[in-house]
Amino acid sequence: MDDLVNILDFQNISKKNIPKMAYDYINGGSNDELTLSRNVMAFRNILLKQKILVDVSKIKSSTTLFNSSIDNPLLLGAVSLHKLSHPMGEIATAQAAEALNTIMLLSSLSSTSLEDVSSASNSDKWFQLYWNKDRTLTKDLVHRVNGSKYKAIALTVDAPVLGHREKDVYNKFTLPDDIYLENFRKYAQGKLPVPQQSGSGLAQYVGHKTEDSITWSDLDWLKSNTNLPIIIKGLQTYEDAKLALKHEIQGIIVSNHGGRQLDGSLSSIECLPRVVDAVDDQIDILLDSGIRRGSDIVKSIALGAKAVLIGRPYIWGLGAFGKDGIIGVYNILIKEFLTTMKLIGCNDINKLDHSFLEDHSIPNFS
Ligand SMILES: Cc1cc2nc3c(=O)[nH]c(=O)nc-3n(C[C@H](O)[C@H](O)[C@H](O)COP(=O)(O)O)c2cc1C
Repeated sequence: MDDLVNILDFQNISKKNIPKMAYDYINGGSNDELTLSRNVMAFRNILLKQKILVDVSKIKSSTTLFNSSIDNPLLLGAVSLHKLSHPMGEIATAQAAEALNTIMLLSSLSSTSLEDVSSASNSDKWFQLYWNKDRTLTKDLVHRVNGSKYKAIALTVDAPVLGHREKDVYNKFTLPDDIYLENFRKYAQGKLPVPQQSGSGLAQYVGHKTEDSITWSDLDWLKSNTNLPIIIKGLQTYEDAKLALKHEIQGIIVSNHGGRQLDGSLSSIECLPRVVDAVDDQIDILLDSGIRRGSDIVKSIALGAKAVLIGRPYIWGLGAFGKDGIIGVYNILIKEFLTTMKLIGCNDINKLDHSFLEDHSIPNFS
């Protein structure tokens, strides 16, 4: 693995290792994949500005999120079905997160139960919630999370319906016989339909099971069922950030689901400044979608994110070499991140701000 230079090397190996249906599911986006590619391009358009003759012999990169201390501002984001990439699935991810002293955000649609993931390692974990149409089931799921060792719940709000992921439609995406949506097995919802004529089994599943009528007022119900901090995942606008504050949400993940949901929207990094403006330091803001280089972490923090999450990149590592591959991908990104910090002349993530970016390249959407 030492001969791998950047994270795309891991992507290439994972492509060889896993079935095409799984690879397309992981790497695809919705419709024309405009937002998928915009997520990556927008980072490239933001230009760094260097300060010289700064002591960069030590870089402070640790941070704290909801009382969890992590070594670097990079988390492992919510990705469904890790067993599509490696038989150890989410257990490998939990162990990698512990080795890296970072937080893993477990998907509702995991291929290992939330209880098994909780006990697989000692590092802090968060749980990503999809709101099921069956409120009793949702309540039971939240109570299972409360009873395990999770430290926060991230409610995904950008998926009232599954984005039209055409690769999955062509492939008639469904699950192999030995992989289940383990969290839902006890409710007899552990399998995806097998599309007969055409279509994605996941899109059919989400269409039947995921609640598309919830509104801000339903968050009170969620709060009444947990004492864990609630984070909104998939928020993109100034107005919604204001609503999140009004409803006393404790954190925001600016995200477009890695370009898998609404196609044709801005990239996450372009949305970040207006969310930062609305939140005015009252709660923590995180970001995902499109992080492919350590410099993207620097740019995100300079624009006001406290930390960022990756999705596909660590799944490439998982598909390439299991737990060690996740660690390999993560370490490459952190090495790039620290190198960038040194080259721009910044020795502390708390000092990262707009002064390290070329003004004209800062996204400015209101
Ligand atoms: C294969 C795959 C599965 C995902 N599953 C979920 C999920 O179950 N819940 C969720 O909130 N987001 C899910 N996401 C979105 C990620 O949490 C994250 O927003 C996205 O991957 C970030 O973009 P990136 O892949 O460019 O890093 C998934 C993303 C991928 C690639």
